[in-house]
Amino acid sequence: MHSRFKILDSFLLEHQIYWRSEPFHLCQTQQQPWKEVNRPLVDWLESLDNESIQTLKEQPQLLVEELTRFLPELDTATQNIRFDNTALVGLDLPRGTAEGIPGRKLNQIVAMGEAVLEHHHGKEWLEWCSGKGFLGRILSQQSDQKVTSFEWQQSLCESGQKIADDQKLAMNFVQGDAFSESADHVFNSNQHAVALHACGDLHVELVKKSVSHGLPAVTISPCCYHLIRDENYQAMSSIAKSSALMLSKSDLRIPLQETVTGGERVKRHRQLEMSYRLGFSQLLKAELSIDEYIPVPSIKKSELAEGFESFCRWASEVKELSLGSDIDFDSYLIQGEALFWEMEKLSLVQQVFRRPLEIWLALDRAIYLQEQGYEASIEEFCERSITPRNLLIHGVKIER
Ligand SMILES: C[S@@+](CC[C@H](N)C(=O)[O-])C[C@H]1O[C@@H](n2cnc3c(N)ncnc32)[C@H](O)[C@@H]1O
Repeated sequence: MHSRFKILDSFLLEHQIYWRSEPFHLCQTQQQPWKEVNRPLVDWLESLDNESIQTLKEQPQLLVEELTRFLPELDTATQNIRFDNTALVGLDLPRGTAEGIPGRKLNQIVAMGEAVLEHHHGKEWLEWCSGKGFLGRILSQQSDQKVTSFEWQQSLCESGQKIADDQKLAMNFVQGDAFSESADHVFNSNQHAVALHACGDLHVELVKKSVSHGLPAVTISPCCYHLIRDENYQAMSSIAKSSALMLSKSDLRIPLQETVTGGERVKRHRQLEMSYRLGFSQLLKAELSIDEYIPVPSIKKSELAEGFESFCRWASEVKELSLGSDIDFDSYLIQGEALFWEMEKLSLVQQVFRRPLEIWLALDRAIYLQEQGYEASIEEFCERSITPRNLLIHGVKIER
């Protein structure tokens, strides 16, 4: 883990210029930060047509192969971001288990459930930031052990408790704030703590509390790394603390941009929305001399269908800007569409740094566990198509 960390750390540090710039903003400036340092890469990007951009975006392996020609260290980095897949055979779920669990979520929960059961150490479970306790329900049924489900939202605790009671499961929901001192009362040294997709500081807090309460095991699947209370990332392990890599909240969003590629409809919708936003930004620059980026709130799909002019009128109303009547909307839409492809092109480069950054963060958590007397491992508990947040970090306390 240490050697992987060092490789990824230097890779990220040496290539900051490629991943720190935000493609959405970068495509709107005429500057190309890589022009001076990597002319062959810039030339290659400029040679790509829209179809090739789309193909490379959808075929990560091919993209890595192409980019390795211009960024040779990418090869070693890529070899160090792979982890074993959890060996899953499937769980036999009693009827009613899936009640109220949306499709893909069910796959994630069952996979994580099986993975933690496989690595179980302890006599009971603590489910952190449990929501309605979907994962806890599976753990309770399959292991016949008590589950404490800790959750902030009272309404989720109530509905989770009701389902558990109806199914006669030994689950106890506790409403509370993960960051409060009272959260410590839900811990005891018999528990295996688990957290499926607890955001940023919430899973960090669980790892720290599990260690301080001497839990026999803790297993997390992290998500939303940017949801932290500090302005910048606070490293956990000593190796990450001594790294020169500083990560802001917006850097911490980069791994999350690796979303599951949606179907054609989702793709078309995104293209339309981004082209409208970029086109609107061009319009503001030219018509109202507004050079800084004006963030426009999210828009309903049905409103997008009204067309570009309607989008611009809506956005300017929201932003209290007045647009004249003789605007050539078509020309701004054409500019927006061109910028969309420019953005897609630039994000091909950022794309290959997303997983290395995510693994850097995962290794920080795992190495912290090792430093605290746990045997730590990282694996992928499901296919990325089920959720791209498919890392499982697992720690088992070493008995002395
Ligand atoms: C992304 S959801 C994950 C829920 C569940 N583990 C799952 O995968 O379905 C995160 C959960 O954390 C809860 N949460 C947010 N802030 C919290 C806090 N300060 N203390 C406890 N729970 C919190 C939310 O209410 C939400 O249910």
